[in-house]
Amino acid sequence: MKETIYERAYHQQSLKDKAFLITGGSGFIGSNIVEYLLVHGAGKVRVLDNLANGYKKNIEPFLKHPSFEFIEGDITNADTCLKAMKGIQYVSHQAALGSVPRSLANPLATHHANATGFLNMLWAAKESGIERIVYASSSSVYGDSPELPKREHITGNPLSPYAVSKMSNELYAYTFCMHYDMKIIGLRYFNVFGPNQNPDNPYAAAIPLFMKALLKDQPAYIFGDGEQSRDFTFVENAVQANIRALFSEHKDACNKVYNIAVGESISLNKLLKHLMHITGKKIEPVFKEERPGDVKNSLADISLAMQYLGYNPLVKVKEGLALTVPWFKKNFC
Ligand SMILES: NC(=O)c1ccc[n+]([C@@H]2O[C@H](COP(=O)([O-])OP(=O)(O)OC[C@H]3O[C@@H](n4cnc5c(N)ncnc54)[C@H](O)[C@@H]3O)[C@@H](O)[C@H]2O)c1
Repeated sequence: MKETIYERAYHQQSLKDKAFLITGGSGFIGSNIVEYLLVHGAGKVRVLDNLANGYKKNIEPFLKHPSFEFIEGDITNADTCLKAMKGIQYVSHQAALGSVPRSLANPLATHHANATGFLNMLWAAKESGIERIVYASSSSVYGDSPELPKREHITGNPLSPYAVSKMSNELYAYTFCMHYDMKIIGLRYFNVFGPNQNPDNPYAAAIPLFMKALLKDQPAYIFGDGEQSRDFTFVENAVQANIRALFSEHKDACNKVYNIAVGESISLNKLLKHLMHITGKKIEPVFKEERPGDVKNSLADISLAMQYLGYNPLVKVKEGLALTVPWFKKNFC
């Protein structure tokens, strides 16, 4: 397998006799989780992805691995979810249509994949007796709440259909835990970045777009004045959170949602400066009108995840950016 950033282990037990289903495993975060599991000797790693927003290229290095399986299929089909769970013990559910602007342009598609698809997954997991499900929620559930740092129990009104879809995930997960005695954990990611995050789709996030702009000497666009801040989270931290959540032995870890971030925020203007420094390139940002549905500032309190999951984000933003640049150079130069 290719060079990896996943040498560090966040689990104690052997993964050899364990079977995992990663939905959205050909996407950005999902393919990083797959890599961790295969590097650490997991018995079976099955990906379910419809390639709506994922890339075969992200899973190409694993296709010949004896423990890896790929199912091209859609979580909006309940039967597909059920079949994908055959022989599986642990589920990391990453499949969804991300992006606030995408959800404003097509709320039905976002609801279908993110809300209906999620419900299908929970139902299939219940029917299959899955040991534990960890799923991707989002910092977008904080909506218009002005509180900083964000703490899990104080959310506001959602600002987009995407945020509604993620809120619905949390509500469904809560009721499935309550009524069906299932073990489910939600992770509210805050602006994740790193290798395998593609800049070439219409709803790409800021960091991959900046990376590509810098490496190709193209203009970098910033919506608003660039002073909006985010708790940018290197993908290795998000993978750590998934692994820790799948195996946390804390008796109260399940049926909760956790902020997954670093606990430090940085403005887009500063972020672009760091990137210029790392790449040795200089470009002037082009400022555009603020986008509807975007929040101004975001910063996480990560103490709950530290307490219940043992989560400890080791890679801070600058180091994460430095680890990400080589991947962009290799793939987009
Ligand atoms: N990247 C971030 O900063 C961030 C922040 C908050 C939450 N999240 C959430 O984390 C998860 C992973 O995000 P990502 O950045 O890796 O996104 P991504 O788009 O790279 O990956 C999502 C994957 O899900 C697949 N998918 C979409 N709809 C599907 C369907 N109906 N059936 C099967 N597969 C489907 C896509 O093809 C894609 O491979 C998503 O749930 C996203 O909403 C991401």
